[in-house]
Amino acid sequence: MSYFICPICSQPLQIKGKSYICKNNHSFDISAKGYVNLLPANKKRSANPGDDKGMVMARNNFLSLGYYGHLKDRLGQLCDKYSENNVNILDCGCGEGYYTAGICEKLEQQGKMANIQGIDISKDAVALAARRLPEGQFAVASSFHLPVPDKSIDILINCFSPLAIKEFHRVMKKNAVFLYVVPAPKHLWQLKQALYETPYENPLKEEEYEGFELIDTVKAEKEIFIESNEDINNLFKMTPYVYRSPKEAQEILLKAEKLTVNAHFIIYVYRKK
Ligand SMILES: C[S@@+](CC[C@H](N)C(=O)[O-])C[C@H]1O[C@@H](n2cnc3c(N)ncnc32)[C@H](O)[C@@H]1O
Repeated sequence: MSYFICPICSQPLQIKGKSYICKNNHSFDISAKGYVNLLPANKKRSANPGDDKGMVMARNNFLSLGYYGHLKDRLGQLCDKYSENNVNILDCGCGEGYYTAGICEKLEQQGKMANIQGIDISKDAVALAARRLPEGQFAVASSFHLPVPDKSIDILINCFSPLAIKEFHRVMKKNAVFLYVVPAPKHLWQLKQALYETPYENPLKEEEYEGFELIDTVKAEKEIFIESNEDINNLFKMTPYVYRSPKEAQEILLKAEKLTVNAHFIIYVYRKK
């Protein structure tokens, strides 16, 4: 069974063999890697939108070592807390699926059935997510045009990805829960100190969104010790500082063998009214 809808005519998609097909015969192949591309060419702003392969691989290598395991655990606990059996979960901007898979694992441990879907605009990211979690359904798509029916989702996750709040509201059921993960003020503080003379704290994003009620604010904070030059390089490459920090400071950081750094996250829990 598929939980995606056709990006052309919005009819339900069914899985037939190696394709997703709607009743109007729009057909989308399931790639050898296990995902489907539901991003129409006219919704693409570039040939390969989203995170590129280098960034995706760096994130995959770093996250797979468990450095951000405390955030994965927190998200799993929250999904358990806010779900009944047969829950529909959608991870928007799921990247390479580290948190998506962690949530699925937690719900399985709790004996809950979960239909897990993930979308990301980056093909390279979705390919890895589909490999990490073969029981999930993954599509290349934009958070701003979700190939997902109205009022079908019980829990929507957004970790460090673009916030498409109106579209999230459309696809969520009444009383469904939205977990919005953002970096806390001092996230990666020591890394920023290594890169900038005057680093700035991340602004707090606690906001009200129309049609949602903020019901909880949960912290997931840990100081992590990185004792590998490769891991420091991967962490750096998965941040936006790759594009906007002084080159000389980058060169020094990228030679470091050790780094102690804050991995501080905030999860805002919203309920759809
Ligand atoms: C910082 S990464 C976070 C990935 C994952 N959620 C995680 O925490 O590991 C941001 C992700 O958002 C994706 N992205 C960017 N614009 C997007 C859009 N309009 N729709 C869906 N995903 C998007 C990128 O390709 C990237 O994988």
